[in-house]
Amino acid sequence: MSARPKILVTQKVPDPAYPLLEAIGDVEATMEEGVIWPYEELLRRGPGHDYIYSLLTDNIDAHFLETCAASTPALKMVANMAVGFNNIDVDAATRLGIAVSNTPGVLSDTTGDLAFALLMATARRIPEAERFLRAGKYTGWGPLLFCGAEVHHSTLGLIGAGRIGKIMSKRASGFEMNTLYFDVYRMSPADEAQYNMTYLPMDEVLQQADFISVHTPYMPSTHHLISEREFHLMKPTAILINTARGPIVDEKALVRALQAGKIAGAGLDVFENEPAIEPELLSMENVVLLPHIASASLKTRTLMATMASDNIVAHFHGQRPPNILNPEVLQ
Ligand code: DGY
Repeated sequence: MSARPKILVTQKVPDPAYPLLEAIGDVEATMEEGVIWPYEELLRRGPGHDYIYSLLTDNIDAHFLETCAASTPALKMVANMAVGFNNIDVDAATRLGIAVSNTPGVLSDTTGDLAFALLMATARRIPEAERFLRAGKYTGWGPLLFCGAEVHHSTLGLIGAGRIGKIMSKRASGFEMNTLYFDVYRMSPADEAQYNMTYLPMDEVLQQADFISVHTPYMPSTHHLISEREFHLMKPTAILINTARGPIVDEKALVRALQAGKIAGAGLDVFENEPAIEPELLSMENVVLLPHIASASLKTRTLMATMASDNIVAHFHGQRPPNILNPEVLQ
């Protein structure tokens, strides 16, 4: 590797990430906030870098990786500033000997906070009520004004019981909720007791829960995990919360389920084709929509940003990157 590696940062990230990279290499980055390079731009800029510091908006596919691997210098590593890495073809990276890392753990609590806030906001119709008030329509207290669903003592159904699912259950305990879960990996009885979670097959979770919150990674096996059949199983009063990845939920089927009254509402932080959103959702009052901000506290985003830098720095020093996803590429 060259004495000073070439590092590409694909979006403006929290400031503390840069000095860590600049200490070891030459950094190319856009410093303009909110600029997301389209695939063609990424493909134009990527080759000729040892390291790519990527965001979940970057499509790091096999063609991109092959192009960067064939360039000089060849790409050594992609460090994703996200826990999710479905934007990266990790199999192709492994085949090409390119390391890939992510940023697990540091965002779990913050994401759990937002997932619970979304649940509360949707159940108690908070954005809808605020829109009403701001529009000057509030003329006085009313017995039926914005009556929503109760959260306390209700049943939460978690689809996925990893770090964030468990945190969601802890948040729910404060509201004395009964938490059911389904995951392909069943927890030990001791963990189930510690996190106050009861395992059930997925269909039964869907049938019994008042709130269904999705916390699985996105992969081929979770594509459209929640679709027509699953909405049919849910209670007509159920509310779906998704802070994981959009394509886990079949968004067109969700629109149909909401239109037909098969479920009562949805709180979504992620979308199947984000930033595009099924247009019908935009005009539904029983749907709360957020722009993928579950981990967006400055503290958490800064931790994620420095974690991605730390992975690159470790690789540069010949150490094992702490959050490597394909350690088999390291000799
Ligand atoms: C992630 O990290 O995967 C989230 O979607 C964004 O923080």
